[in-house]
Amino acid sequence: MFETLKQPAPDSILGLVKMYREDPRDTKIDLGVGVYKDASGLTPVMRAVKAAEHQIWEAQDSKAYTSLAGDPAFSDVMVELVLGDAVARDTVSAIATPGGTSAIRQAFEMIQMMNPDARVFVSDPTWPNHLSILNYLGIEAVSYRYFDSEARAVDFEGMMQDLKGAKKGDVILLHGCCHNPTGANLNSTEWDDVIKLVQSSGATPMIDIAYQGFGDGLEADAAATRKMAAAVPECLIAASCSKNFGIYRERTGILMAVASDASTQPLNQASLAYLNRQNFSFPPDHGARIVTTVMNDAALRSDWMKELEDVRLGMLGLRTQLAAELQRLSGSDRFGFIAQHRGMFSRIGTTPDKVVALREKHGIYMVGDSRMNIAGLNADTVPILAKAIIDVGI
Ligand code: LMR
Repeated sequence: MFETLKQPAPDSILGLVKMYREDPRDTKIDLGVGVYKDASGLTPVMRAVKAAEHQIWEAQDSKAYTSLAGDPAFSDVMVELVLGDAVARDTVSAIATPGGTSAIRQAFEMIQMMNPDARVFVSDPTWPNHLSILNYLGIEAVSYRYFDSEARAVDFEGMMQDLKGAKKGDVILLHGCCHNPTGANLNSTEWDDVIKLVQSSGATPMIDIAYQGFGDGLEADAAATRKMAAAVPECLIAASCSKNFGIYRERTGILMAVASDASTQPLNQASLAYLNRQNFSFPPDHGARIVTTVMNDAALRSDWMKELEDVRLGMLGLRTQLAAELQRLSGSDRFGFIAQHRGMFSRIGTTPDKVVALREKHGIYMVGDSRMNIAGLNADTVPILAKAIIDVGI
């Protein structure tokens, strides 16, 4: 039977990892996959995470299963982190998932379970795996305009026009903060307009929030998600702990379903747990336990928040430095958008052949759509990147 398999479409982000590893040049720069790196190129274990792991190692006396939805204490801290007090806790159902990707996958499966004809509206562009999973599940994806590639900013008018096509039974997928891949984000007035449009369309919003704390801060980055959840009768939220806790390989995420009142919560919760059972039974626990330990210990929590804030400010500093260097070399303000964008990524908006030229001539690796991972830079590599960008004629 194996002969019937067809080569899967290559993943545009993960394909780069192998190419980068195989490049023998010691001057190469990796701006591909979304993994935070410090100035020395390492992805460190955060201090509070290390301390929490130590506590867990000392205290844990069993590795027996938790529950299908994961440890309820993890759901509690994550609902607090993402939603604050925007909605009543007894309206929220939640399952721990292996990473943010599984939260997205489970959300799509739940959508399909509720309405086999649902269409999911996705920004153009979006994280490529959104489209890949939708396609795999046979769910129709409808793209809405999002990025103005001339201005390298949100095409808000286009977005609003296209979202008018959504109706009850459809889902509108939004990035809660730090849009991936563009780095261009809605401001708070624009979010208000999107919320009004979602309300009047009757469509269900789904928010992917994978970079909380990487944009304007932990609270600011969750503001739009909270406002949306409080304003609509139903909402799905997929959150990841990979980036803000730096626990990528532990696969730690959560899917939340927010209902208008507590009466439907038991059914929503049972449906989510059922989906976990079908796909992998019990979700992984170690990363979730780390997050719970950090969040429930005042000292660890405050140290984690401080380290995360340093990471965020470090990335902002690199943005400012890169924009200034490009302004100096190009004699124009056309790269000012890099300092305006937020999160780990910026799409610089150039053609695939120039992305290839950056890689082949300069050993600079970014995704083919010209998304670069700002956290892959440091103060020494910013001028090298700026020179290369000008050299290839971007
Ligand atoms: C990315 O966009 O680079 C990250 O979310 C990692 C991934 O799984 O693609």
